[in-house]
Amino acid sequence: MARINLTVDGQRVSDDVEPRMLLVQYLREKLGKTGTVVGCDTSRLRCLHGPPRRPQREVLQRAGGPGRRPEVTTVEGLAGEDGTLHPVQEAFRECHGLQCGFCTPGMIMQTVDLLAENPSPSEEAIRLGLEGNLCRCTGYHNIVRAVQHAAGVSTGSTNEGASA
Ligand code: FES
Repeated sequence: MARINLTVDGQRVSDDVEPRMLLVQYLREKLGKTGTVVGCDTSRLRCLHGPPRRPQREVLQRAGGPGRRPEVTTVEGLAGEDGTLHPVQEAFRECHGLQCGFCTPGMIMQTVDLLAENPSPSEEAIRLGLEGNLCRCTGYHNIVRAVQHAAGVSTGSTNEGASA
């Protein structure tokens, strides 16, 4: 067994795991964080954040492997403790930026990062910023709308929490 010490969504976690256990397995099976998905077995989807606040392609790393970042934020961790959706989550819901939802965690985490770097992205910047997250369902139109909505680009509204 391998000892791991992580902070997941602000909660400290210490555990003994099989050395071969992947981080995504640990998050899903041990912690119930099922928003983190294995998209294609090549780490394309970026369902996690680690410090500095960058989406991570390390869901396929071992939970206790070398270089393991000690802190991760999952899509579940974006929501408030009272269940209030993060503004980006709310924008995806509002703009129907998902169908099956399989790509949604990666899209949302990437959007949070994108808006932190560029609070008013152009459509082109949004499409480039989400590059690498593949959606099989929506054709991306509503996803782009959701990002614009979260940024207040299309609505003219502000969204102070989008980069939180
Ligand atoms: Fe189904 Fe994106 S909503 S893959």
